[in-house]
Amino acid sequence: MKLFDVYPLIPINLVKANGCRLWDEQGQEYLDLYGGHAVISIGHSHPHYVQCITKQVEQLGFYSNSIQIPLQQALATKLAELSCLHEYQLFLVNSGAEANENALKMASFVTNKSGFIAFSGSFHGRTSAAVALTDNAKLVAPCNERDDFYILPLGDLDAVEKVLRTQPIAGILIEGIQGVGGIQVPESNFLLGLQKLAKSYGAKLILDEVQSGYGRTGRFFAHQWVDGLEPDLITIAKGMGNGFPIGGLLLSSDFKASYGLLGTTFGGNHLACAAGLAVLEVLEKEQLQIRALELGTKLMSELRTIPGITAVRGQGLMVGFDLNQDAAPIRSLLVSKHKIFTGSAAKKETIRLLPPLTVTWEELASFVSALKDVLNSHPH
Ligand SMILES: Cc1ncc(COP(=O)(O)O)c(C=O)c1O
Repeated sequence: MKLFDVYPLIPINLVKANGCRLWDEQGQEYLDLYGGHAVISIGHSHPHYVQCITKQVEQLGFYSNSIQIPLQQALATKLAELSCLHEYQLFLVNSGAEANENALKMASFVTNKSGFIAFSGSFHGRTSAAVALTDNAKLVAPCNERDDFYILPLGDLDAVEKVLRTQPIAGILIEGIQGVGGIQVPESNFLLGLQKLAKSYGAKLILDEVQSGYGRTGRFFAHQWVDGLEPDLITIAKGMGNGFPIGGLLLSSDFKASYGLLGTTFGGNHLACAAGLAVLEVLEKEQLQIRALELGTKLMSELRTIPGITAVRGQGLMVGFDLNQDAAPIRSLLVSKHKIFTGSAAKKETIRLLPPLTVTWEELASFVSALKDVLNSHPH
């Protein structure tokens, strides 16, 4: 059977990983500044993580959600402790799109409205409602198209109010920091303005922290950089499992559960929770959130000095920068010549860095010299 082609692939067969390093079958080493798309939060094959998952699968890897799973409560308790969000309720799923889909469903359910607002540059996943709120028409099939979903310019509160005033809107969905959109950090006043508007028009504010959450920006959630912001719903995935598929929806205490409304076969299984718990323990013990802020700030100031870079954006270790040329050949040279993985973004000039939060300054500095070398040999 042939595989269905979904991504243009780098022809490298990775067989081993440790920390921020990857190895292919020829034993060639690579530096991972992409983290498998912001997924590898605590580093590849972290010993505590490996130990917790191994122990769990030996004991009990999976049983259905019809039986109590105490590990889910342990995960929720640790998550509340590290995020300082004690009043939310947690629903566990398997991916970011699924978390967003359930957030939209809950906002619609409690408001009894069906419209939603999202923003230019957004990416919320490829499932039905999430993709309809993603700013990429190429990903949307006719069955996903919705007349009452609006993608408005990021930062334009007037446009948001105009729609809220005239249409029945259940919720506003926004990324803590836009990832695929090229690391666009929303203004604090914009986020606070959305919260105010959502409250006055009876809509729910949903923060998609799938990429920007889990300590990457130096706060547990990117929106926590904004004082006074208290979303109704928060979605999480990616860094949550360090590679084990797990996602979640945080619901404010206003949401009341009713049996059967939300549900999942795999979400919150024993193995996923063991992985999720191990990630939080490492984040806490190794103070990775603090490191992310320190190293990210230092990296961004280095990047700002490099000729050929026209803009640097980000927070902590969620970094995007624009070149004065197409980024694709530069990223390819970084792989072929310097064995360094980076990420792309919607705009062709942008490079995204989403390294494991355990990355060292030496590793980031080696990237800075490699980038200088590649840009020198490939001037605009
Ligand atoms: C902000 C954001 N939301 C949602 C998703 C979808 O997550 P998943 O691929 O786990 O469904 C992504 C994936 O890139 C994302 O970056």
